Amino acid sequence: MSSDFRAFPADPATAARLGRLGLDYRVLSPDDHEALTAWSQAEHRGFHHPRPTPETLEREGALLQDRRVQGVYDPGLGDAIPVATVASWPTGLSVPGGRSVDGWAVAAVTVAPTHRRRGIARAMMQAELANAVTAGAAVAVLTATEATLYGRYGYAPAARAATLEIDRRRVEWAGAEAPGRVRFVTDAAGFRRTAGQIVRRQVARTPGEIDRWPALVDRVLGLEDPAGEPARATRVARYDDERGQAHGFVSYRIARDGMGAGVLEFDFLAAASDEAEAALWRFLLEQDFVSTVRARLRSIDEPLRWLLADQRAITTTIGDHLWLRILDPVAALEARRYEGPGSLVLELDDPLGHAAGRYALEVSARGVAEVQRLDGGADASSTTRAATAPTRRSKPAHGLRLGVDALAAMYLGDARASLLARAGRVEETGPGSLAVADRLFATNRAPRLSIWF
Ligand SMILES: CC(C)(COP(=O)(O)OP(=O)(O)OC[C@H]1O[C@@H](n2cnc3c(N)ncnc32)[C@H](O)[C@@H]1OP(=O)(O)O)[C@@H](O)C(=O)NCCC(=O)NCCS
Repeated sequence: MSSDFRAFPADPATAARLGRLGLDYRVLSPDDHEALTAWSQAEHRGFHHPRPTPETLEREGALLQDRRVQGVYDPGLGDAIPVATVASWPTGLSVPGGRSVDGWAVAAVTVAPTHRRRGIARAMMQAELANAVTAGAAVAVLTATEATLYGRYGYAPAARAATLEIDRRRVEWAGAEAPGRVRFVTDAAGFRRTAGQIVRRQVARTPGEIDRWPALVDRVLGLEDPAGEPARATRVARYDDERGQAHGFVSYRIARDGMGAGVLEFDFLAAASDEAEAALWRFLLEQDFVSTVRARLRSIDEPLRWLLADQRAITTTIGDHLWLRILDPVAALEARRYEGPGSLVLELDDPLGHAAGRYALEVSARGVAEVQRLDGGADASSTTRAATAPTRRSKPAHGLRLGVDALAAMYLGDARASLLARAGRVEETGPGSLAVADRLFATNRAPRLSIWF
């Protein structure tokens, strides 16, 4: 991955396209404090957030130092505030098998309501795919405000998230006793390093998670603005094993309406082991004077229902969360592990061109894949491989024809090929191919992304 991802120029095709609309498309310098402040104001406005305080602007300015920040400006307005924003950065994405693939995260996509539906978002999104390729990413990732925005650029939901609502009065723990103990974190600053390590371990063991940044851990520990209301309402508890080693922590709050029992809410429970995860769940579910526990951004195959005597205590709502776009099928497919052995030819359709082509996926008994491009496509790295690599099997028996978005939906194990085929999104090119694809891409842990970005 290019370490200089903030330095390469604004995508020329996008700059020209927006130029024809009388707009300037710019990369902001990390040193241009004023421009970054104006950019943050535009982003808050774009997401319908309140105006940011000077402290928020300062904090965000620090975070933006590690991102490629781009804005679209309307010179006709004589205004420093851009009419559109986007920020992006290189990130690892955890994939099945405990490894990670080079990804490109895209966030903060906003277009001012005064400038909507002129193709500004489309121009920026296409530029981000070009930026990702320039940076050497195999995939691009994002989270979306609306599910109708990003399919048109080849993204698909690749990891869903569950909101669990648990009726506290019906909770009876049926799981094992944890050998360690849960205790409150009273020195959040002192816990920062350990929390960062736990988070990294959680990310590594969960396909679909992206690399975390330090400010994120500070926020959940209440260190970002300790005197602010959200931080004061937040409690942090950790799980230590019997040797006193921390393996998980949760950041939660309890809201109360008048004299009634509280509603406990959390969206950040990081666990490096199943034991820590179960123990923290139990701690949260057994709080007195709480009627409901609401957990967001949880896995869709949470073991929780097997830890309770009454599974109907849990109401689950599932939605799309991580959106993934495959740019380099060779690098992406070789990064993950499979339930091998087996082979498949993938005929990929990609209206934007990046990944279109025929690819042979050959998986060893150990689940390691070798991928060869079978046609000479536009993508330079893949083309080079195709020109030099011999085709391992001239006539593989199994194959799929599918769009690049369908491959993204399958990639982390979220959607089975056979399910997508039932929806007309995947077609098998030979009998039995769907069953082979289902087996190869199967994972023992559902993909999950447990943050917004
Ligand atoms: C979503 C948003 C970025 C779109 O910006 P825009 O410049 O109006 O979008 P464009 O004109 O480039 O539209 C591109 C395509 O997306 C479609 N589109 C745009 N907004 C859409 C929406 N809210 N729902 C469904 N489709 C939408 C357009 O119809 C167009 O389709 P087509 O080119 O395939 O025919 C803008 O409305 C916005 O800032 N919304 C609020 C913040 C937000 O939700 N941002 C997304 C963060 S994940």
